[in-house]
Amino acid sequence: MNPPKNIQYLRKQKEEARLGGGEKRIEAQHKKGKLTARERIDLLLDEGSFEEVDMLVRHRFTDFGLEKHRYYGDGVVTGHGLIEGRQVFVFSQDFTVLGGSLSEAYGQKICKIMDMAMKVGAPVIGLNDSGGARIQEGVVSLGAYADIFLRNTLASGVVPQISAVLGPCAGGAVYSPAITDFIFMVQNSSFMFVTGPEVVKTVTHEEVTFDELGGAETHATKSGVSHFISENELECLQSIRKLHSYIPQNNLEDPPRLECRDDVNRMDEALKTIVPENPNKPYDMKTIIDSVLDEDDFFEVHRDYAQNIVVGFGRLNGRSVGVVANQPAVLAGVLDIDSSIKGARFVRFCDAFNIPIIIFVDVPGFLPGTDQEWRGIIKHGAKLLYAFCEATVPKVTVITRKAYGGAYDVMSSKHIRGDVNYAWPSAEIAVMGPKGAVEIIFKKEIEAADDKEKATSQKVAEYREKFANPYIAAERGYLDEIIEPQQTRPKLIRSLELLDTKVDSNPRKKHGNIPL
Ligand code: HXC
Repeated sequence: MNPPKNIQYLRKQKEEARLGGGEKRIEAQHKKGKLTARERIDLLLDEGSFEEVDMLVRHRFTDFGLEKHRYYGDGVVTGHGLIEGRQVFVFSQDFTVLGGSLSEAYGQKICKIMDMAMKVGAPVIGLNDSGGARIQEGVVSLGAYADIFLRNTLASGVVPQISAVLGPCAGGAVYSPAITDFIFMVQNSSFMFVTGPEVVKTVTHEEVTFDELGGAETHATKSGVSHFISENELECLQSIRKLHSYIPQNNLEDPPRLECRDDVNRMDEALKTIVPENPNKPYDMKTIIDSVLDEDDFFEVHRDYAQNIVVGFGRLNGRSVGVVANQPAVLAGVLDIDSSIKGARFVRFCDAFNIPIIIFVDVPGFLPGTDQEWRGIIKHGAKLLYAFCEATVPKVTVITRKAYGGAYDVMSSKHIRGDVNYAWPSAEIAVMGPKGAVEIIFKKEIEAADDKEKATSQKVAEYREKFANPYIAAERGYLDEIIEPQQTRPKLIRSLELLDTKVDSNPRKKHGNIPL
């Protein structure tokens, strides 16, 4: 029978589609403390801006009684809308329809908006809440996943891709969010794992809960899979809006520039005393970041993971910047495997999307030990070095205290195309810390001395006077200027102004081979 050609019929179909899996399942979703796919979109986008695509798509499968479950939309809501007036594409998985499981038709819907996003150059935001591959569709569902993975990969570095995991995301399904640029998770309601607790128990005999294995806290602190953790869905969706405010629509655009209400010449006198006299005493690098950026506007990424490096977005005179900073308050700011990977991925995002990078340096070197060596600090530390070397966006470095060893080179030194390199008078730039250095180069003298301790401390003082300062580096031009700490904000702003028209490029190649 042909469908009637009246508006009432159309409205009825759309009304049915809007209900997804029906009232009962919506109620069950709410009972779990979760919002529906459509409620999430409404909170994510500017009011009334959502344009839905493929609302009336249905699957055509008949195996295992699937013909009785032909819901409009087929378990995913897709379309486009605005965030602060800028276009984004969205797919929102609807758990009320067959557990949000991914089918052929569902995969095609996601691919359609991803293809459109690539054509028009706009970000893709995926809201994940799904039981995984639609089991009844078998390999067809696996194929649909692979179609999405391919698009995630091809879109990487072309349009920003943001994932929120707001329910289950398990098995191979995790690899779509994993390829995207940022993952958001919500406490107590989202989880991600390759194999669930039951399989883990069978294979490794470990007893672990869903949350311990792959909850938001686990991925925000232990694995680093999640970049952001929120207490609830509303907070999560608002955080996505905030992240979007710092980033451009695609790799050919600059990030949006906002009006700056903060004094560009503001000098914070408190910065003069933030670095303690004792070089072994910690201080919080975030105090410097907060002080220097516009209006305390630091949006931290990976806040709870590898805290010995701090990364995040902010603004200087309204311009978006990415901040990468060693954190002397955690593990003395040392670079280890996790912090190198965290830093490298962030640098590569900024470089891919034309976001200048501000680097604050206070690093005693790479973390020694068998654990780090055997797990490959060599190849992982190289990631951060590689990322800074290949980045062609403006890079402005400020050494606040220690810049020792290979870590000096790595942290956007002049030698690897740092554009503007500053140091504070408290900077110490040398191959290694004074104690370690004198124990090597004056080993014989110290052994021969009657009072070994006195001999060591004399040599340490000598070494400190010679090397533990920024002046030798300044003499060579490795630093452009030694600045007073309170001048940092105006200096950074002027540097960015200067670098606004920077042009730099890498040799033509298919792609590099970053040490993985
Ligand atoms: C078809 C599914 C489904 C799936 C859930 N449902 N997952 N239907 N394919 N993958 C259906 C359920 O049968 C149920 O329908 C409804 O969705 C709600 O599910 P519940 O189990 O009642 O919900 P809940 O108790 O909240 O548990 C959620 C869940 C669980 C933890 C996600 O449903 C689950 O374990 N599902 C299977 C997960 C899984 O193994 N997926 C395949 C993984 S392999 P009714 O009508 O009974 O209410 C995979 C490979 C991807 O995904 C590979 C990509 C490369």
